[in-house]
Amino acid sequence: MADYSKVSKELAEVIGYIKSDSLTDEQKETITQQTLHYFDEYVSPGWLQYRKSVSTNSAVIEWTDEGNAAYGLYGEKFIDCLGGFGIYTCGHRNPEIMDVLTAQLKHQALHSQELLDPLRGYLAKAVADITPGDLDKCFFTNGGAEAVEMALKLARIATGGRWYITAVGAFHGKSAGAISVGGKGAYREPYTPLVQQVMWVKYGDAQAIEDCISNLEAAGEKVAGVILEPIQGEAGVIIPPPGYFAAVRKSCDDHGVALIVDEIQTGMGRTGTMWRIEAEGIVPDIMTYGKAFGGGVMPITGIICREHMWTQQLIDNPWLLGSPTFGGNPLACSAALATIKYMIDHDIPGQCATKGEQFLTGLSALAQQYPTVIDSVRGAGLMIAVEFTSAEVGYDIAKGLFSRGVMTAGTLVNAQCIRFEPPATITEGEIDEVLAKFGEALVVTKESFNL
Ligand SMILES: Cc1ncc(COP(=O)(O)O)c(C=O)c1O
Repeated sequence: MADYSKVSKELAEVIGYIKSDSLTDEQKETITQQTLHYFDEYVSPGWLQYRKSVSTNSAVIEWTDEGNAAYGLYGEKFIDCLGGFGIYTCGHRNPEIMDVLTAQLKHQALHSQELLDPLRGYLAKAVADITPGDLDKCFFTNGGAEAVEMALKLARIATGGRWYITAVGAFHGKSAGAISVGGKGAYREPYTPLVQQVMWVKYGDAQAIEDCISNLEAAGEKVAGVILEPIQGEAGVIIPPPGYFAAVRKSCDDHGVALIVDEIQTGMGRTGTMWRIEAEGIVPDIMTYGKAFGGGVMPITGIICREHMWTQQLIDNPWLLGSPTFGGNPLACSAALATIKYMIDHDIPGQCATKGEQFLTGLSALAQQYPTVIDSVRGAGLMIAVEFTSAEVGYDIAKGLFSRGVMTAGTLVNAQCIRFEPPATITEGEIDEVLAKFGEALVVTKESFNL
């Protein structure tokens, strides 16, 4: 081995920080300076700019999180209205979920890859129990895009079709397969050609999907799957018109096409029901989930499909679809099991619905009061978007909120529409506090932009 003693010494210091109960001011300053330097030097200068764009004047280094807030190294508190884009539905380091996770860690972290790991089975059953209709075969992955990859592959293997239909504005992740069915040019252009057999239609237009499938069939091509978000998240919380999914379901049934519903962001209570597709009254053939699924403490994602999708080919060779080393590992499964129980016991979907109503009502009142700053407000449950009159205005508001201790997703590149996805555990008082701070930021932005 080469001489890595310097690395070891440096790591001893970092491990000391991790293990420390109270860092000294000198240590905090060192961590701050080293973080800035190492991001710039070893992560990416652009990333630093992007990641901290609303805090560039005084970079905040995050260190702890708890309940409904994230905290900086110096104890700066931020009420979390970004919610990790939907990760923290059960709050940060939820004690009931942490309890289970730490108990699991005491006897096993990862699986042998050979013996039967029971938590995978328990979790698959629980997911089947809480998902609509006859969805009942699970496959666990580590990230959202990876779950989408599995859904796309499964649709091909199960239907024999080769084409995918997706929507303009769609976001399903950034792996090669997932951006192939993405609907935003900026994410795709540097990497084309991607998967070639993809057609894009306008989101919310069911007839366009029917026409697209029929046209491909007339040309001798078969569609494997239609992939849709039940509410488009990244595109800015776009809610489709009533009856859209019922009509798409019918087209898929008529043509033997798999309907893939991507619930990675909308699922696990976020929009006021355990799954958004419940509100649409249909059952997809394949459904993806992630983000909040790991309870805000572990990364775990997956798919669930209907019995007929899990074909003989997959029964004969269960690893044909994929065999991710860490997918469905015991630690991640324990977190997901605890999360599902917590969500049921505390009616997290119901909390998202009521608190979402309170938030949306407050934001709508502000939109009426400041029409030159806020263009529109929309949402379902605690998946809410505020559309500003320009990206610059939105960015200024995000900065204003940040300086008042409220975290949102405000980046210079895309601040016209800001999403609010706070934990379901956020209190009524905290929502009022956020609305009050939003009001203060609005006054300042209105004045400085002369609106
Ligand atoms: C609907 C949807 N699908 C897939 C993904 C990708 O998930 P990940 O970032 O974990 O790969 C996201 C992430 O925002 C998403 O919102």
